[in-house]
Parts: sequence; structure tokens; C-alpha cells
Amino acid sequence: MNSVDLTVKIGSLTLTNPILLASGTVGYGNEIAEFIDLNKIGGIVTKSLSLKPRKGNPPQRIVETPSGMLNAIGLQNVGVEEFLKEKIPFLKQYDVPLICNIAASSIEEYVECTRLLTTEDFIKAFEINVSCPNVKEGGLQFGNNPIAVGIITQKVKAVTNKPVIVKLSPNVSYISEFAKVVKDNGGDAVSAINTLVGTSFNINTRKPKIHNVFGGLSGPAIKPIALAKVLEIKQKVDIPIIGIGGIMNWKDVVEFMIVGASAVQIGTLNFIDPTASIKMIPEVEQYCLENNITQISELTGSYSSQK
Ligand SMILES: Cc1cc2nc3c(=O)[nH]c(=O)nc-3n(C[C@H](O)[C@H](O)[C@H](O)COP(=O)(O)O)c2cc1C
Repeated sequence: MNSVDLTVKIGSLTLTNPILLASGTVGYGNEIAEFIDLNKIGGIVTKSLSLKPRKGNPPQRIVETPSGMLNAIGLQNVGVEEFLKEKIPFLKQYDVPLICNIAASSIEEYVECTRLLTTEDFIKAFEINVSCPNVKEGGLQFGNNPIAVGIITQKVKAVTNKPVIVKLSPNVSYISEFAKVVKDNGGDAVSAINTLVGTSFNINTRKPKIHNVFGGLSGPAIKPIALAKVLEIKQKVDIPIIGIGGIMNWKDVVEFMIVGASAVQIGTLNFIDPTASIKMIPEVEQYCLENNITQISELTGSYSSQK
């Protein structure tokens, strides 16, 4: 049987396959390690880390919606110091690229987090979260502002030699404008998309179902939007894209790659079946074999514009 080269490149980062675990859906890797062999996954993206620990929002923080879920966790995390001391040692037993996702309330905080984390060799790249809809400070305040996204990209790049991926918000009119700013300021890649702002109310109490009122919508409900955002970026800006949003099976992985993603991240699906991400790898490989694709990277942006 012929084999397929599943490796993909995101800037200077080489992944053994294009399937990554999305930020906030697998903790720091430890929470999913009892279900899957982390050595087999393309990479792990950590829960967003901030300089100091954050308690996040009070409950209720998650609610199920048609074909998706709303979450307003509020960036609960252990902070950079404890992450380096308590979480990295566990991950070091695996041979898997670790991408640290960083969230912050100020530009200085993004820079300081990166500066502290970049000294750890086990961390292979950064994903800068400028797009979380569930916090009062930071989050969309930056993600909606191309000037801020440009400054953050440039300043973070200045303190690390590792690839910097900027995670973009879909809650903007033209996501490609933000991808262009990332590229122009030296960013290595973008990931798209973070969650879409949504809400849900109880008709009997007339109260919001989540404490924060607004939350981030994820899951299959957002896949067509995410695909359109990836395609928009692919058509307008020459930068590697990591596709995220509602991926539920191997066919979704292939679809994201066809519209322009170099790699993908699996999010909400991890809550439904924590083993799903691993199961998709041979399935995607089989698709490549059946379609005479010897290098999976050939799929990226291979869409046909014929109707
Ligand atoms: C419970 C939950 C927590 C999340 N936390 C983060 C986070 O801390 N940082 C981040 O950049 N994205 C976070 N996300 C967004 C996901 O990484 C992903 O971009 C989004 O859920 C869309 O992908 P999906 O539809 O496959 O879940 C979170 C998503 C969920 C469902």
C-alpha cells in the first residue's frame, strides 16, 4: 500500500499530521490524556493562559444549543507561573508539539506572557487569543481592532523566535483584513475561528441561561461560517491558516483543508467523544490514498471554483 505524507508546516513548525486539539477544550492536555495517546495527535493548544491565575466567570458557564454550545468560561486558567511549574512536567512525557495559547487584558501582558513562556523549550509555538468574547477586558476589545492586533503581533514577535499564530475573531465584518495585519506585522499564521457571540434565555424565568448573558457559540452550527472565513482569508492573504469551527469528522477536516486550511483544530467534539480526533487521522489518510494524494498539504486551498 502506498503511504501518504501527513506532515504539514505552519511557519517553521512541522506537525506530523494536521489535526490539533483546540484551546479550552482539553485543559492543558492532562484532561484528555487518559482517553487518547497524545503522541499521535498533530499538536495540543493549551487553554488560554494569562499572566496571573484567573477564576473565570461564575456558573452557569455552558449551555447546549441547537447543533452547538454556548460557553462563557471567562478564561479561567492557572496563570503562566503555575503552568510552567505544574503543568509542563506532565506534558514532557509526550512527544507532541505544544502550542501555548495566550490571552491578556493589555498589550504588555501578552508580551510578558510570551517572554516568560518562550524560555521553555518544550513550547513550540504561540497562539495569541485576541478574540475571546467572554471577558470584560481584552478579548474582543483587541480582536475587533486591527491596529491593536498589529501591535500585539509585532510586539509578541519581538520577544520570541518561535512561530506566532494569531487566533482571529469571526465577530468582525472582514476577517481577511485582520489576517493581513497579522502578516504585515510578522505573524507566522492565523487560526480561524474563535467562537461567535451568542446568547440564550429561559422563557419561564426570562433570565439568561448563562451568567455572563453572552457566550461564545461553537460546534457544528458554526462550521459553514468558519469555512467561509477560512476561504475569505485564503483568497485575500498569503498566510498559513489553521481552520477551526464545528469539525465533527474526517470529512470536515478535508473540507477545511480544501478551502485553505493548512491544519485544523478540534474543539467542541472533544466533549462529545474525546477519542474522535485520533480516529480521524487514519480516515483522512484513507481519503488521500483513494484520491491519489501523496502529500496531505496538496489539499490546502485545492478547491475548484467551478460551480
Ligand atoms: C468550553 C470552551 C472553552 C474555550 N476556551 C478557549 C480559550 O481559552 N481560548 C481560546 O482561544 N479559545 C477557546 N475556545 C474556542 C475553541 O478553541 C474554538 O475556537 C471554538 O470552540 C470553535 O471550534 P469548535 O466548534 O470545534 O469547538 C473554547 C471553546 C469552548 C467550547
